[in-house]
Amino acid sequence: MALIPRDIDTRLVLGIESSCDEMAAAVLRGPSEILSSCVHSQDWVHEPYGGVVPELASRDHVRAVSAVVEAALSEAHVSLDDVSAVAVTAGPGLVGSLLVGLSFAKALAYRCGLPLVGVHHLSGHLASAELADPSLRPPYVGLVVSGGHTALYRVAEAGEVKLLGETRDDAAGEAFDKVAALLGLPYPGGPSLARAAEEGDEHAVDFPRPLLGSPGLDFSYSGLKTAVAVEVERRGRLTPREVADIAASFQAAAVDVLVARARRALGDQGLLQLAVVGGVAANQRLRGALEQAGREEGFRVSFPPLALCTDNAAMIAAAGLRELSRGRRDGLDLNAFSRAPLQGGAVAGGS
Ligand code: KG4
Ligand code: ZN
Repeated sequence: MALIPRDIDTRLVLGIESSCDEMAAAVLRGPSEILSSCVHSQDWVHEPYGGVVPELASRDHVRAVSAVVEAALSEAHVSLDDVSAVAVTAGPGLVGSLLVGLSFAKALAYRCGLPLVGVHHLSGHLASAELADPSLRPPYVGLVVSGGHTALYRVAEAGEVKLLGETRDDAAGEAFDKVAALLGLPYPGGPSLARAAEEGDEHAVDFPRPLLGSPGLDFSYSGLKTAVAVEVERRGRLTPREVADIAASFQAAAVDVLVARARRALGDQGLLQLAVVGGVAANQRLRGALEQAGREEGFRVSFPPLALCTDNAAMIAAAGLRELSRGRRDGLDLNAFSRAPLQGGAVAGGS
């Protein structure tokens, strides 16, 4: 059975996502037809501070939510009367941010008498793989690499997900962002660092590959980040050439660990399909390395297009549709949560 049911193809699901610094809304028809996907970025709000300021994020969400949802409906050429359900990210994320999308979704569902379903943000990222590539069918290994999470899952036939390993400290995207800040690269850090790395020599500095030699499927990025901090400190004022070399060497180390762990997960699980999702899946060096490993070892790698890698609401609508088809509905008492493990895709409580 596919993760996203393919028998419900007339249902229009409105998805809303506001877990961090993007306000997004999308309309999905059936399991894989994206009628619209609107994302309102707040990069300009947080850029002066070099990172997301939660209070500013939620305030901007309040200003944007109504217009973003209206834009998603109008781009899809549908009205609220055509929508059959509302799916919204309930967590994990910044609670102040989540509450804006969640309250709006609850109000819409109440006003229009629509079913409401709360979605786990990581369930959304995982759903983006099948949304983008309908030929991808479970079982497969899902690698979630984002600003808040780095984890490997087994996605099983019935759409059940099982955690295989995760980061013990920083997420991969968080390490990209922090290293970019250390190198004085502009916000948002991940894409800036990837751009700087294009000009650099990735063999210039031999950074550690944390946990690479140890058993299991966990990740660790704080040691790598510290190694970059020590190198930057040692060198003092950096030339543009040094910035590019350190960026490229860091990126190579971060990617090596992701590739090695993904290969091991596939081997352990006896699977030959890998789906890579989340903001860091937009990284071209990671894409190239995993595609090459796939060619060498005979596994298939599926990456969503860039717009579905970073936070968006189409993936939330897709995950919501799956939950709805399982008969799940949430009440108006649905609450936001900052942290909670992903369990079978359902919203797993917590606070
Ligand atoms: O999935 P996402 O949009 O939000 C979270 O759920 O966290 O991921 C954002 C993360 C950020 O850390 C950002 O720096 C990283 O994805 N990112 C990248 C690239 N594009 C976005 N990291 C490396 N290379 C990229 N091209
Ligand atoms: Zn995300």
